[in-house]
Amino acid sequence: MKTLMLNENEIAKAADILKNGGLVAMPTETVYGLAANALDGSAVAGIFKAKGRPMDNPLIVHIADLSQIHLLVSCFPEKAKILAERFWPGPLTIILPKSDRIPDEVSAGLDTVAVRFPSHKVARQLIAASMPLAAPSANLSGSPSPTNARHVYDDMNGRIDAIIDGGECAVGVESTVITLAGDVPKLLRPGGVTVEQLRQAIGEVVIDDAVMNPLSSGEKASSPGMKYKHYAPKAKVILLEGSAEAFIAYVNAKKSDGAAALCYDEDMGRLKVPYIPIGHADDYEMQSHKLFSALRNADEQGFRTVYAHCPKTDGMGLAVYNRMIRAAGFEVIEL
Ligand code: TXA
Ligand code: MG
Repeated sequence: MKTLMLNENEIAKAADILKNGGLVAMPTETVYGLAANALDGSAVAGIFKAKGRPMDNPLIVHIADLSQIHLLVSCFPEKAKILAERFWPGPLTIILPKSDRIPDEVSAGLDTVAVRFPSHKVARQLIAASMPLAAPSANLSGSPSPTNARHVYDDMNGRIDAIIDGGECAVGVESTVITLAGDVPKLLRPGGVTVEQLRQAIGEVVIDDAVMNPLSSGEKASSPGMKYKHYAPKAKVILLEGSAEAFIAYVNAKKSDGAAALCYDEDMGRLKVPYIPIGHADDYEMQSHKLFSALRNADEQGFRTVYAHCPKTDGMGLAVYNRMIRAAGFEVIEL
């Protein structure tokens, strides 16, 4: 299959591909998504094939107008309305009981569906010109999510019909996922909308154990995606927990082993190994924006072992922590 590279003015062409059951990678404010008609099970099945994604991992459905949600869910409770009003369009995904229009391929056999209203202009125009779109991140299953069109091309060339180039994604990590399908609202994945903001809007929100910890064997994941190895570059990533001084000393001592570092901007000058900066220690937004690019960059430079400084978990730090700890396969060394 030849993969077409489209620009932001070729939305109509992309919409035609989707109407014919094809696959189009689109920019969103979080990461690039690999989209298909959410109401067409066989189109959606193509997404799983192109990504090599396990079929038991459900997809997010993207809308471009709040009225579309009634097609997708069987109820729209008060807390969902509050969240939609406060955070949509934007980087928040809400899980609700699904309607019977949702194909099994989208929900992976669950009785719920994940819905998101992205803010990115291109994503909104594409949905408006076509239909609600099922879209996971547009990477090969298991590798870091793509935050620009080249990342998508590197993973998906020859596997999908088209890629719309919409530049760099602003947020850089995937949306916050909250489920309202249980008794108490539960955060399943941290992202650009923080748990502090969610609690301010709707009160109690619990954080699923799998956000910060590995699943114990046999434990059932609330979000199937959390049980898979994730965001992993080819390089081995190891998190170090401790002061900046301890981090720098540890990594410098590994120089002869060919180590590299993902580091904060202020630590660059003191490192004696190759490094990739991801923003200042207290700038979680910048770290989110750069993290996946940095992981791909580590592979492009052929680094074998990359040490990263374990982030804090307040605000958007939790999103950075959640991705880093998965990239590291939960390997943390306390200094
Ligand atoms: O920012 C984003 O959310 C991006 C862009 C493209 O919108 N999409 C994205 O999709 O990250 P994906 O498929 O890579 O991650 C969706 C996560 C997975 O961990 C999946 O298991 C979970 O959401 N999920 C989807 N539907 C679910 C459901 N009904 N119940 C529980 N978890 C669900
Ligand atoms: Mg993904």
